[in-house]
Amino acid sequence: MKFVKEIEELLKIKIGFNSTVLCKERLSYIIEKRQNKLNLDDDSYYKKLKNSSEEFTHLIEEIVVPETWFFRDTQPFEYLKSYASSIKLTKPIKLLSIPCSTGEEPYSIAMSLLEAGLLPEKFTIEAIDISHRAIAKATKAIYGKNSFRGDFKYQHYFQPVTQGYQLSPEVSKIVHFKQGNILNIHNFPENHYDVIFCRNLLIYLDSEIAHKLIEQITRSLKNGGILFVGSAETIYVSLKSYLSLNKPFTFAYQKIQPQKQSSLPKDSFQEPLIIYPKDSSQKFLPDQPKEEESYLVKARKLANMGKIEESINLCKNHLNQFSLNTEGHILLGELYQASSNIIEAQECFQRALYLDPQDRQALTYLLLIKEQRGDPNEVKILKKRLERLSHT
Ligand SMILES: C[S@@+](CC[C@H](N)C(=O)[O-])C[C@H]1O[C@@H](n2cnc3c(N)ncnc32)[C@H](O)[C@@H]1O
Repeated sequence: MKFVKEIEELLKIKIGFNSTVLCKERLSYIIEKRQNKLNLDDDSYYKKLKNSSEEFTHLIEEIVVPETWFFRDTQPFEYLKSYASSIKLTKPIKLLSIPCSTGEEPYSIAMSLLEAGLLPEKFTIEAIDISHRAIAKATKAIYGKNSFRGDFKYQHYFQPVTQGYQLSPEVSKIVHFKQGNILNIHNFPENHYDVIFCRNLLIYLDSEIAHKLIEQITRSLKNGGILFVGSAETIYVSLKSYLSLNKPFTFAYQKIQPQKQSSLPKDSFQEPLIIYPKDSSQKFLPDQPKEEESYLVKARKLANMGKIEESINLCKNHLNQFSLNTEGHILLGELYQASSNIIEAQECFQRALYLDPQDRQALTYLLLIKEQRGDPNEVKILKKRLERLSHT
């Protein structure tokens, strides 16, 4: 095929795909198969692809990775349950799952909220994916064994049918599915959603596009709202706009109030629900001076205000004096990540692990950096360490 490079470029422009993640052989195979079916040579196929949105849709259906399952990663849904039971509801919570693939993620959100005791009228879930095929399957809500992995606890919402398991209408009617392209998220309402799940898509996207997308997603999220990303996608979340919720394996972030708050009308956004680690004092070493605690609080406040550099300097100064503080090294690592200094961030997490080899947060952050930097041996070792920790 003569036009593989051009088709990769089209995929990048139209759906954000990163051609280096996309396997060239797979793309060539898909194109060749289609050309044979349509009996078209390279030039005619490329012309058709450029001029026919139907043909492009066909290519998208073949190229996307719809891999998903119920309660994928478990922890985000556990966190969502506790979040839902802890907040005082004045209005229904608005949630968005994008991309939702074949529906397992938004339905898991719905089941979690029902299990948390929320009535269906207390929340809305919108779910969007580019794949028409995936949306059609999601709407049918019949699932095979592959959608249920690990220890599945919610059988009571399913009925066996000939093609698999039918989700109960009590859950399926809650989710509103729509076919759509995430690149159009800039058209979504501002400050609108309380919770957005955007998991396991950014890894397939061109990194510049992924960064821009996160900015637009941030615009649509209310202040104080929660963003969930995939485990390998935390690198795209800027601590200028978010505070990590510090819950292991949730990959959840809370949107913080923009710095120039005074220029906005006072009631145009909710009070942010900024969460400082409640038990931070317990994590300190026993003989830690009070001053150390206050610097961490101050550094987090500065980070919340978007003053990342000031926050970094504050942490660095204190860590020069009190270098045995694991939490300080982790915070500094997060700050470096937010300012895209990945090497420095990696060193901080390594130092934190030297002080506390059992620190899950430092292990997880380091694992993600190693994954991003393509270091499979280190990834394997860190995964084993994390696994061992979850058995203790
Ligand atoms: C791996 S699934 C992730 C599903 C779910 N969020 C999860 O974590 O299990 C990736 C999905 O992204 C969808 N997708 C890819 N590009 C997209 C785009 N530009 N806009 C919306 N959805 C897209 C694919 O159709 C696919 O269903």
